[in-house]
Amino acid sequence: MPVVTFAVAGRDNCVVVAGTPYVYATVGGRGFVMRARCPHRGGPLHLAGVTGDGVRLVCPWHERRTSVARMRAEVPAVRVGDRVTAVLPDHPPVRGRPAPPPAGACGGVALEHRPLAPALTRRRAAAD
Ligand code: FES
Repeated sequence: MPVVTFAVAGRDNCVVVAGTPYVYATVGGRGFVMRARCPHRGGPLHLAGVTGDGVRLVCPWHERRTSVARMRAEVPAVRVGDRVTAVLPDHPPVRGRPAPPPAGACGGVALEHRPLAPALTRRRAAAD
């Protein structure tokens, strides 16, 4: 389980572990590190929308909804200033269980930039 410190925004705001990207997102004023790959078919969850109640992410590819609480619980993380330190799984869980590495994935950790959807950068819940 790699422990990685990375930027919460801007350059190097995405850490890739064994081919799986993770980003720091903020939903309803609460920040967390989340897997930026949809559990359905790997869609870009860093571009997801958020349901009006702030409970689920909406994948941009097929609009499947994923629980924010579930994504939040996958990755223990602590933010200090503009950086976050996360304990990342060697491989992302499938339905809450550890999964084998995806075909063709190689080990290692890399940092890169991924733009986040506006819905994943809101510091406070939108007013109703
Ligand atoms: S890849 Fe996300 S809903 Fe299909």
